[in-house]
Amino acid sequence: MKGKITRLPSSDGKDLATRLTPVTHRMREVTNHLAEDGIWDATLTEEVRQLFDSLAEEWTATRDHPQRNLPILDALNRGKVKGQVALELGAGTCISARDLISKFDSFIAMDLSLAMLNNAIENAPPLVCADGSALPVANGAIDVLILQNMFLFPKEVERCLSTEGYLVWVNSRGPETPIHLPVEKVVHSLESAAGHGWDAIASTLGEATWAVIQRSKVID
Ligand SMILES: C[S@@+](CC[C@H](N)C(=O)[O-])C[C@H]1O[C@@H](n2cnc3c(N)ncnc32)[C@H](O)[C@@H]1O
Repeated sequence: MKGKITRLPSSDGKDLATRLTPVTHRMREVTNHLAEDGIWDATLTEEVRQLFDSLAEEWTATRDHPQRNLPILDALNRGKVKGQVALELGAGTCISARDLISKFDSFIAMDLSLAMLNNAIENAPPLVCADGSALPVANGAIDVLILQNMFLFPKEVERCLSTEGYLVWVNSRGPETPIHLPVEKVVHSLESAAGHGWDAIASTLGEATWAVIQRSKVID
């Protein structure tokens, strides 16, 4: 690893969301293949889209609880995240957006599943239905890219993040989250795709894990 990981003390908290069925184990496999080998194709896209389309109607009811957004807020706060333009990719029904919109000048929520976006919470931000493997975003346009319980597309992170940009990686139930990667793997995957170092600040809030990751600063 080229970059460094700084670990902050843990905070208390609990994720009260409904626990999912074993079908989600397949998503763990997809998460790892994607991070390790960049495997993502049309068949996989369709499989993932169909799964999340089928979960969309119940998503908010089974995951929205008062503590749901605490890990992401903790990450923004203790990770000292700054920026004007934020994108939440894999936003689902935009439960996090409720607490995030006001923190940025511009906040966009994107998801592969149209059904998820059609079930978005009231007062949702601008919604875009798109695949994270080919983001409809100009190079370097995003200051803060939020991935909560979402797959990592490292080449797109490298392309779309501004020079000082932040990747915010959150797993609501830590290693129990179906789409989960430990911070070491996220950094390794980014470094393999980008060819340079990334530094992370990582912590936990209850069972949730989070990391705020930036390109390593070049010291002259
Ligand atoms: C586990 S859910 C998390 C939703 C939300 N972030 C949350 O924590 O409640 C993963 C979301 O990522 C979306 N997703 C999966 N693959 C995607 C892709 N390639 N591009 C964009 N969104 C994707 C799914 O449709 C789903 O809404």
